Amino acid sequence: MKSLFKRYTPLQIAMHIYAWSALVHLLIDFFTDNLTANPIQALEQRTGRHAITLLVLSLACTPLNNLFGWRELIKRRRALGLYAFIYATIHVIIFIDLDYGLAWSLIIQTILEKPYILVGMLTFLMLIPLAFTSFNIWKVRLGKNWKRLHKLVYLIAPLAVLHYAWGKKGDFFRLQGEIILPLIYAVIVILLLITRIPPVRKTLASLRDRIVVLFRRREPVVE
Ligand code: HEM
Repeated sequence: MKSLFKRYTPLQIAMHIYAWSALVHLLIDFFTDNLTANPIQALEQRTGRHAITLLVLSLACTPLNNLFGWRELIKRRRALGLYAFIYATIHVIIFIDLDYGLAWSLIIQTILEKPYILVGMLTFLMLIPLAFTSFNIWKVRLGKNWKRLHKLVYLIAPLAVLHYAWGKKGDFFRLQGEIILPLIYAVIVILLLITRIPPVRKTLASLRDRIVVLFRRREPVVE
């Protein structure tokens, strides 16, 4: 146990436990017949929600580091993004295989008929190059283009929220239907994207410096 804490930080352990717990929970519910009256829909919804949550968490790493100076978050960003991709892949496999039984013409018809599915597919297609180039070797190979490519996440996150909200068939303007959770995700993603705007980033950095100074002043002086 001691060596586990030596090799991994508490944040790292918490992140891996959180990421895997959803899959373990899902498998337990699957094998104990505990997945509601519509198990395929439940599987789709739960994997989709976990994918979007992990995506938002990976997007939150940089702003939280900017605000609180918690540098370890930057190191965890890639794993969170990869976990998001893994759950999105499981989500898509469930849709294609369990839900539509690999009936490709029907799948294509559904994608074209239901705009929220089309948005989901676009989101997934954009996630693929990000996941595959997230490793250091690609960072070196792509140089400046790596950063450019990974800026796609600013498009992916809002599209994922749109896919979520649209799929719920609620009415955002009248606040009707199951829109509360998608709305919470939308607000968080908007706030996280706002923090990337340079003047906002600067303000956050100066706020962080003030917080640090405040805490230093409170520290007792040891003679
Ligand atoms: C080819 C790509 C995709 C397809 C075909 C697809 C399909 C679906 C379907 C059919 C549902 C509705 C399940 C239901 O309520 O009956 C759904 C819901 C959802 N999907 Fe996707 N999806 C795709 C990509 C993604 C991606 C990339 C993400 C996130 C990163 C995502 C996140 C979600 C979320 C959060 C929900 C709502 C879960 C809930 O109702 O609580 N999807 N998706």
